[in-house]
Amino acid sequence: MSLKFSHSAIIVLFLCSFPAILADEEEDPTIKTMEDFSGYPIHEPHSSFQNTVSSLSVDTQSLQKQIDELSTFSDTPAPSVTRILYSDKDVLARRFIKNLMGLSGLSVREDAIGNIFGRWEGYNPDLSAVGTGSHIDAIPYSGKYDGVVGVLGAIEAINVLKRSGFKPKRSLEVILFTSEEPTRFGISCLGSRLMAGSKALANALKTTVDGQNISFFDAAQSAGYTKDEGDLSSVFLEKGSYSAFVELHIEQGPILEDEGISIGIVTAIAAPASIKVDFQGNGGHAGAVLMPNRNDVGLAAAELALAVERYVLESGSIDTVGTVGILELHPGAINSIPSKSHLEIDTRDIDEERRNIVIEKIHQSAITIASKRGANLSEFKIVNQDPPALSDKSILEAMEASSKELNLTHKFMISRAYHDSLFMARVSPMGMIFIPCYKGYSHKPEEYASSQDISNGVKVLALTLAKLSLQ
Ligand code: GLV
Ligand code: MN
Ligand code: MN
Repeated sequence: MSLKFSHSAIIVLFLCSFPAILADEEEDPTIKTMEDFSGYPIHEPHSSFQNTVSSLSVDTQSLQKQIDELSTFSDTPAPSVTRILYSDKDVLARRFIKNLMGLSGLSVREDAIGNIFGRWEGYNPDLSAVGTGSHIDAIPYSGKYDGVVGVLGAIEAINVLKRSGFKPKRSLEVILFTSEEPTRFGISCLGSRLMAGSKALANALKTTVDGQNISFFDAAQSAGYTKDEGDLSSVFLEKGSYSAFVELHIEQGPILEDEGISIGIVTAIAAPASIKVDFQGNGGHAGAVLMPNRNDVGLAAAELALAVERYVLESGSIDTVGTVGILELHPGAINSIPSKSHLEIDTRDIDEERRNIVIEKIHQSAITIASKRGANLSEFKIVNQDPPALSDKSILEAMEASSKELNLTHKFMISRAYHDSLFMARVSPMGMIFIPCYKGYSHKPEEYASSQDISNGVKVLALTLAKLSLQ
């Protein structure tokens, strides 16, 4: 049964949530709260709507302090943040989060690769839980809000609900996902991808190494996690573990700020893909080898990078994007013709087929460029080619109703960035809440979201979780 909130029901809830009323031995406060949240008008409202809204109180100051403190666990100087999977700073940051989860009264557990779960047990604990969360790893020289708002904000949303006197029917679970960013091992959304049951990833991780040739398992073990390859299937979520999953995140685009809208309700997440390409040539002396005798794979890489831009633009849609974010030349000396080049290409679209056409063109182009230059295309590896994900209708409704009840302007929009929600959508109904960020900046130190916007997002998240917990 889908339960709907009404303004009056919420007003009743908060009137009933004062400690004096909760302390009443005559009534079961748990059931009472459930009835209130479920929209049963068991009492007439005694207060104005505005009073109700203000009783969902976010501790904005503490939350901002936590965001600032977390940003100090970084391998690059402020204002940039660099927090790479299983690094010392990542381990310290994880400890910080686990401590906050504990302080919020959540029971904390970790899986074999360090996905962290903080659970607030519902009064019907056999029902599947409602999940929320995001990531805290940060790409090199990025900002302090990406992912972090969805983890610290989720813990604060739990605090908001606890302070309001709410008692969840379904358990609420805050999740910190391991390595949403692909920085260390080239695999995006590593934790949520594995949670969603990717056997291919579990297999690939057996031989995965980072840029320093450190294996995934050695790195995980150094952070206190698994060493055992057989362990990884334990990360897979059991079917039906979550009845809903909601992620709070900065928009990472300029729309909400430009339009002066408080809340973005995400209807779909664009389909990301990433590709690794290696060319090999003869290299040689930059002075002695004449131009007709070269097979310069630095130029092969440059040509392919330009081809990526051309194919993306040829798609004719503004929604198709492509980026060559990594381009490495070997041996990397000014007076040596590159003998190896390595590119990593990110391409995305809200239309999966259109994105796949771009990938195919890039592949054909890499073959042609190598042959034209007498070079060897030693690797063309599609690391991931993920489909898009759609948000769930009842979660969309819950997010929209929450925004309205909180009197916050909202807008339906797509997410061009990927998120752990893309993978949670494979195992649970999914939804995402966006908040504005300064000029849409993200993945750079200038990334910023105001305390007010964060607080709005936390309120919408809290109310949405409450509604979903009672469904
Ligand atoms: C996530 O960080 C992305 O690149 O979309
Ligand atoms: Mn990111
Ligand atoms: Mn993110």
